[in-house]
Amino acid sequence: MPRTAFAAVGFHVPDRLVTNEELTTRMETTDAWIRERTGIRERRWVREGTENSDLALEATRKALATAGWQAKDIEAIVYASLSPDHMMPGDGCYLNAKLGIPGVPALDVRNQCSGFLYGLAVADAWIRIGMYRRILLVGSEIHSTGLDVSTRGRDVAVIFGDGAGAALLEATDEPGRGVLSCHLHADGRFAAELSCDAPGSKYHPRVTAEMIESGAIYPRMEGQKVFKNAVVRMPEVLREALDQNGLSPKDLKVVVPHQANLRIAQMVQRSLELRDDQVFNNIERYGNTTAASIPIALAEAVEARDVRRGDLVGLCAFGAGFTWASALVRW
Ligand code: UT7
Repeated sequence: MPRTAFAAVGFHVPDRLVTNEELTTRMETTDAWIRERTGIRERRWVREGTENSDLALEATRKALATAGWQAKDIEAIVYASLSPDHMMPGDGCYLNAKLGIPGVPALDVRNQCSGFLYGLAVADAWIRIGMYRRILLVGSEIHSTGLDVSTRGRDVAVIFGDGAGAALLEATDEPGRGVLSCHLHADGRFAAELSCDAPGSKYHPRVTAEMIESGAIYPRMEGQKVFKNAVVRMPEVLREALDQNGLSPKDLKVVVPHQANLRIAQMVQRSLELRDDQVFNNIERYGNTTAASIPIALAEAVEARDVRRGDLVGLCAFGAGFTWASALVRW
């Protein structure tokens, strides 16, 4: 049975840089509060007219160039996002068109911060059963058009950023190489702790002027509850992956945790007793880009930490749903 190797990872962020200082002009907040509570110094927000699938296209182009593949080499697209261009169809189809690969299947994944890892689990299963040999897995988000950038929404608005990451996955028969395992979890009892109420099909019409006025169109979060669950679930699910493979934290070259909050990543590090060089964070520059955060950070980590063939890479995520997930990859 083949395994799933990462042929290349690429990322793209918008050129518009939004500093904490800029946010202080739009809401009651301070650079110090944002840095101390989240670790974020700046994030990228799109200029008007940029679409989620545009970010994904740029990230994909970079990954294609690194791998030396052409778009026509892609046999399937898996697209993780909570912020698609439209309610329907999913962004996988828009990306398929922008890449010029009609007929190539496109699956959309709606698992928020865990979306990239849920997508990886699906792509990995497809490759293992021999259904496809080359898959494009994308995580892409535009948060900035859906945030309440005022004091009312400040707890959420300061956190989120826009961006996209793309991984090109291919079947390999090289012994020991590739995705070792993926681990997925969800607990819908906590759905309300981090959610966006409208537009929604439970409403008729799906969105009203009152919903816009009341802020029901913006994501809302019970920050502390999410935080407390994240710091337990992320190390737990990474340990689950290590245990299943008979490995230990010291075997890891690098862990790329979902970039939700620097303090969460630091607690994951402490819990697993990892050295600083074993954890890669870039939230200070991009904020939380949900489904895009792992592939963006992974693309940077591969360069910054000189990840080579045979190195063990750990990925873990936690987010809305609640959902949480991990994967181990022998690079
Ligand atoms: O990726 C998806 C998963 N998401 C996460 O994992 C996020 C998890 N949660 C968090 O990262 C943190 O809970 C936050 C960063 C969202 C908030 O940090 P916190 O330390 O939990 O703050 P808090 O919500 O307990 O709020 C503390 C205070 C409050 O004021 P009072 O009631 O103490 O007077 C807030 O109103 O900070 C206030 N506050 C702010 N002040 C300045 C909330 N947001 C801001 C802000 N600027 N942007």
